[in-house]
Amino acid sequence: MKLNLDIGIPSPPGWIAAVSADFSSFLQDHADCERKASATAMSLVAKYPNRVEIIPELIEIAIEELEHFQSVYKIMESKGIQFSHSIHEDLYIKALMKAQHDGLEERFLDRLLIASVVETRGAERFKLVADSLEDEELSKFYKMLWTSEAKHGHVYVKMALHYFPEDKVYKRLEWWVAKEAEIVSTLPFRAALH
Ligand SMILES: [Fe+2]
Ligand SMILES: [Fe+2]
Repeated sequence: MKLNLDIGIPSPPGWIAAVSADFSSFLQDHADCERKASATAMSLVAKYPNRVEIIPELIEIAIEELEHFQSVYKIMESKGIQFSHSIHEDLYIKALMKAQHDGLEERFLDRLLIASVVETRGAERFKLVADSLEDEELSKFYKMLWTSEAKHGHVYVKMALHYFPEDKVYKRLEWWVAKEAEIVSTLPFRAALH
């Protein structure tokens, strides 16, 4: 298994500039992304109950993402920021989901690999956030998230390797990394994770 997962292109500098300019909105969106990451792991359990080999790891990820959600919410609370109804539609996730294969097996592989590229991008962006913050505590928190999401990126690939041959997994992963890069480069910059 690869020790390091790559992203196709680094996040454009305009992204971190948009985040820094409105960190409150970023926190609202970030919390929402953690909640959705937890839900995604649990939805894989619900969709593939017979894939028993990966259920413990999916539960583990769901718990960790929920803990991230809790931590971000605590930060929001301390800053007097509330959840918002007006979170934008996540065009990034939408574009990734649209590119999935049809067919039971192929779609299962794609679901795991999409989760992996999303986690790996999250890791890259949390590092950028950590590096941009002057608040030491907050910066430390984002560094922790960086390592946690990077680990999730690996775990989803490991899950795929339970069920599919290595060359197939990495070939498709390479395709997703390129696709994800293409999507990232077309998105508008917002004070949001994507
Ligand atoms: Fe997370
Ligand atoms: Fe994660």
